[in-house]
Amino acid sequence: MRAIDNEGFLTTAHSRLHDDEIRELYAYPTDPSSPWIRMNFVSSIDGAVTSDGTSGALGTPADRRLFTLLRELADVVVVGAGTVRSENYGGAKPDAATRDRRLARGQASVPPIAVVTTSAHIHPRSRLLTDTDVPPIVITGRAAPEDRVQALVAAGADVVRVDDDAVPTSALLASLAERNLNRVLCEGGPSLFGQLLRDDAVDELCLTTSPMLIAGSAGRIASSPSSSPRPMRRAHVLADDDGTILTRWVRERPGRL
Ligand SMILES: NC(=O)c1ccc[n+]([C@@H]2O[C@H](COP(=O)([O-])OP(=O)(O)OC[C@H]3O[C@@H](n4cnc5c(N)ncnc54)[C@H](OP(=O)(O)O)[C@@H]3O)[C@@H](O)[C@H]2O)c1
Repeated sequence: MRAIDNEGFLTTAHSRLHDDEIRELYAYPTDPSSPWIRMNFVSSIDGAVTSDGTSGALGTPADRRLFTLLRELADVVVVGAGTVRSENYGGAKPDAATRDRRLARGQASVPPIAVVTTSAHIHPRSRLLTDTDVPPIVITGRAAPEDRVQALVAAGADVVRVDDDAVPTSALLASLAERNLNRVLCEGGPSLFGQLLRDDAVDELCLTTSPMLIAGSAGRIASSPSSSPRPMRRAHVLADDDGTILTRWVRERPGRL
C-alpha cells in the first residue's frame, strides 16, 4: 500500500494537468474494432448517485471538465431513457475547437446521443430532439408502441428497432458496431449499467467521487436484481484541490487494453 499524493490537480490556477494530458490518460484503445464500453458516473462519498433526483448537485468543476473531455473522445454517448427523462438530456454541443479536433482524428464533429428504451417514452418535443445538432439514435424493441416510434421518427430520431421486447446487450453492441461507433461513452444510468455489468460488457468505469455526503434514499451507480462481481484494475487516480477524486478503472481481458 502507498499514499497517492495530490499531484493531479485539475482546476487550480497552477494546474499541472493540461487538457492534452487528460486526453492521453483517458485515451480509448487505438482503432477499436468492436464497441469499447466506457461508463462515466459521479457519486457522493457515501455512494449516492443522485441528490434530489438528479446528478447535477454532485458535479464539481473537475467533474464537469472531465465530462466534456470524455464526450470529446467518444464516437457516441449511450444513455438509458430513465436518465434522459430525469436529466432532460439534449444533444452534445462541442465548441468549434473540439469539433475541429474530432474531425482531425477522423471522428464525426459531434457525437450523437444513443438512447436505450423499451417504452419509447420520449417526448418528440423534448430537448433530446429539439436541442441537438445531430439526430439522436433511439434504440428500442418490439414492445415499443408504434405511434411513439413513428412520432420519434417524425421528430428526426434515427430509430433502431431490435428483434426483442427490450434491448439485449448483444443487440445494443451490434447496433453501435454497425454504425462504426466503437468508442462508446455510456453516461448511465444505474439500470443500464447493471445490465451491462451482468452481461460482462463493461470495459471501464470513470468514477468521480464528489466531496460531499448525502444520505437519504438515493441509489448507487449500478443496480440489478442480482450481483455481478467484476474485478477491475485501477488505471489512475486524480485529485482536485476542492476534494474531488477522479478514478479510472479498467477491466482486464485477453485481447483488450
Ligand atoms: N450520478 C450519475 O453519474 C448519474 C448518471 C446517470 C443517471 N443518474 C441518475 O440515475 C437515475 C436514473 O436511473 P435509472 O436506473 O432509471 O436510469 P437508466 O438506466 O438511464 O434508465 C432506465 C430506463 O432506461 C431504459 N433502459 C435501460 N436499459 C434498457 C434496455 N436494455 N432495453 C431497453 N430499455 C432500457 C428503460 O427505459 P423505458 O422506461 O423508456 O423503457 C429503463 O426504464 C436518474 O435519477 C439520474 O439522474 C446519475
